[in-house]
Amino acid sequence: MSSQDNETIIELKGVSKRYGFGDAESYALRNFDLTVKRGEFIMIMGPSGCGKTTLLNIIGLLDQASSGEYYLAGKNVARVSAGKKARFRAKEIGFIFQNFNLVPTLSILENVSLPLIYSGCRKSRRLRMADNILEHFHLREREYYMPYQLSGGQQQRVAIARSLIADPSIILADEPTGNLDSRNSHIIMEELQEIHSQGNTIIMVTHNPALTTYATRVINMLDGEIDTDIKTVDDSELPRGGKNEKVSVKVLPSRDPIQMEITSESDVVVSGENVTTEEAPEEKAEEKETKKPAVKKSSSKKSTKKKSTSKKKGAKK
Ligand SMILES: Nc1ncnc2c1ncn2[C@@H]1O[C@H](COP(=O)(O)OP(=O)(O)O)[C@@H](O)[C@H]1O
Ligand SMILES: [Mg+2]
Repeated sequence: MSSQDNETIIELKGVSKRYGFGDAESYALRNFDLTVKRGEFIMIMGPSGCGKTTLLNIIGLLDQASSGEYYLAGKNVARVSAGKKARFRAKEIGFIFQNFNLVPTLSILENVSLPLIYSGCRKSRRLRMADNILEHFHLREREYYMPYQLSGGQQQRVAIARSLIADPSIILADEPTGNLDSRNSHIIMEELQEIHSQGNTIIMVTHNPALTTYATRVINMLDGEIDTDIKTVDDSELPRGGKNEKVSVKVLPSRDPIQMEITSESDVVVSGENVTTEEAPEEKAEEKETKKPAVKKSSSKKSTKKKSTSKKKGAKK
């Protein structure tokens, strides 16, 4: 009930995104208002071209509105510099894409560590943190693989690990199950549900109405506007936690993700677009132990990269 528990994390006011001029002018978003509370799990639906990706990209600071105001965690982010935006994005927002968007030339371990480039810690520490979170996703055995060597479901779980590693305020997912079969979709949704239940805020685009059972709120868009907006869970019932309380991510024990197969060609297609690969200037910063991955260390406390027999730990069946 307290406002503390239901803090507003995103506020869009009259946001429009316009393309073209004159006769060719069109709106991907039209005068869009949206308020998101911490702990919501919002699913966004609507026909192709209605502006869902544009909305996520604006929320995620990958794109800029033509007009309107945008407050992220209380900060007006509409007019900050590109560099600040990139930094803010890396710290506050985790992305999950339909095509996984792992960088094809980097190992799984390096991919997962990418968002930490802005954290100010050294590469060795970044890789250790990535190793740690991959262990929790039962993907440690694959950390020196290249993305193409993993199935689609595994790649998406790597992408989820990557989205969480910098302990963001919000997870944005654009059709994260769009390229997966139903079994792998289910695994991904269980993962997201677990992340949400620990107090994280998730905004996800989907075409699949069956998935809306995971959401606390379902928004249907049409022609760049909100058509319907239905909360299925009251604000006071939203899970607590979130960034300020160092939400942890536990991996569900009863799954054997290593077994997920490549089910179609699209499973191995990756796209590196939208992924920041440049090195950050803060490399100089001394090895600060201030940031921890958003992972509860349930088993091993050391994060040595040596043999990981821990895979089966907790994975019954
Ligand atoms: N770079 C662009 N240039 C011109 N029009 C664009 C651009 N990106 C998106 N659009 C248009 O904006 C509208 C919304 O696109 P998008 O947000 O990708 O929709 P959705 O994700 O719902 O399918 C579409 O009509 C699309 O053609
Ligand atoms: Mg889209």
